[in-house]
Amino acid sequence: MPQMKILSIESSCDETAAAVVEDGRIVLSSVVASQVEEHKLYGGVVPEIASRRHCEAINGVVGKALEDAGLGFGDIDAIAVTYAPGLIGALLVGVNFAKGLSMSAGLPLIPVHHLRSHIASNYIAHPELEPPFLCLVVSGGHSHIVEVKDYTEMKVIGKTRDDAAGEAFDKAARTMGMPYPGGIHLDKIAEEGDPNAFALPHPKVEGSPYDMSFSGLKTAIINLIHNASQKGETLPVKDLSASFRKAVTDSLTEKFISAAEALSYKKLVLAGGVSANSLLRRRVSEECQKRGWSCYYPPLHLCGDNGAMVGAQGYYEYLAGNTADTSLNARATMSIE
Ligand code: KG4
Ligand code: ZN
Repeated sequence: MPQMKILSIESSCDETAAAVVEDGRIVLSSVVASQVEEHKLYGGVVPEIASRRHCEAINGVVGKALEDAGLGFGDIDAIAVTYAPGLIGALLVGVNFAKGLSMSAGLPLIPVHHLRSHIASNYIAHPELEPPFLCLVVSGGHSHIVEVKDYTEMKVIGKTRDDAAGEAFDKAARTMGMPYPGGIHLDKIAEEGDPNAFALPHPKVEGSPYDMSFSGLKTAIINLIHNASQKGETLPVKDLSASFRKAVTDSLTEKFISAAEALSYKKLVLAGGVSANSLLRRRVSEECQKRGWSCYYPPLHLCGDNGAMVGAQGYYEYLAGNTADTSLNARATMSIE
C-alpha cells in the first residue's frame, strides 16, 4: 500500500490539537493549543469554557497542522478524530469538525478511542514497538492495566475503583497550594523531598488483584494538611510531595509488575499524562531491567494530549476496517476494549 497520510484531531479535554501522521509512525506536523492558563483560574477544567475555546481554536489548529506539514487536503488520505471518552461538549467540537472535513473532502472518517491513542504515542517514539505488550495507561481520568494483544484488540485486567492517578496527583497538589494541573508541579517538588517523611496508607482493593484505589491516599494527605493547619503548623511541601508521589507510584508499579508476571508479559509500556511522572518512569524501568524485560514510555511531549497519537492509532484502526460515517457521535464514556 502507498504511504497513508492521516489528518488527526483531538479535543477531548483542554487541548485543541491536530497533526498529520504518515503510516501511523511518522509525524509530519503536530500542533497543540492548550487552554490550561484559562482553566488555572478555576483550579480545574471548566467544561463549558473548554467547548468554547475548542470552537474558537479548531479551524486555526487544523490549518496550521496542514501548513506545517506542507500539505493540502488533496494530499490527505483520511481524517481521524478522538470520539470517546472525554468531556462530551469538548469531544463534539472535534467530532463535528472532522465529520465536516470528511464529508467535504470525500475522505474516510476514523473514530479513535482516547486511551488507545495514548498507547499509540509509543508507536511514534519507538518504531520497533509492536503488540502484544502490557500497558499501564494513567491519565487525568483513567488508570488501567491493559493487555494490548494487537493494535486494536485490548483487554482491561485492572483499573482504579475510584480516582484516577492523575486526578489524585492534581487534588493532592491543589491542597498543597500548587496551580492546576498540579501533577507536574508535585513531581518536580518531590525530587527535592524525603519520600519516607510521612507514612501514607498502602491502598488495598479487595477482590481483584490488579485493581487500584487512590481516593484513600488523597484523603490521607488532605487530612494531614488540615490537621496541621488547625494546630497552626505547616508541613514541608517537598517531603509531603515526595511521600505522596512514592505512595502512588509504588502502588502503580507493584500492580503493573505483578500483572506482567502473572500473565507472562516481558514487554511493558507506559502511556497517558501520568506516564510523564519521573519516579514512575524510573521505578518501572528499574523493575523491568532487573527482570531482563523491555520497558517503553513516550517522550514528555507525547505524554499529554496531542493530535499525533490520534493519527498513530487512527492508522491501525483504519487497517482494521474501523471507519465511521457521518452518523458518528461523541461519547463521554466508553471502554477501551
Ligand atoms: O492524559 P492527560 O494529558 O489528559 C487526560 O486524558 O486526562 O493527563 C493529564 C494528567 C493530569 O492529571 C496531570 O496532572 C497528570 O496527567 N500529569 C502528571 C505529570 N504530568 C502530567 N502527573 C504526575 N506527574 C507528572 N509529571
Ligand atoms: Zn489524555
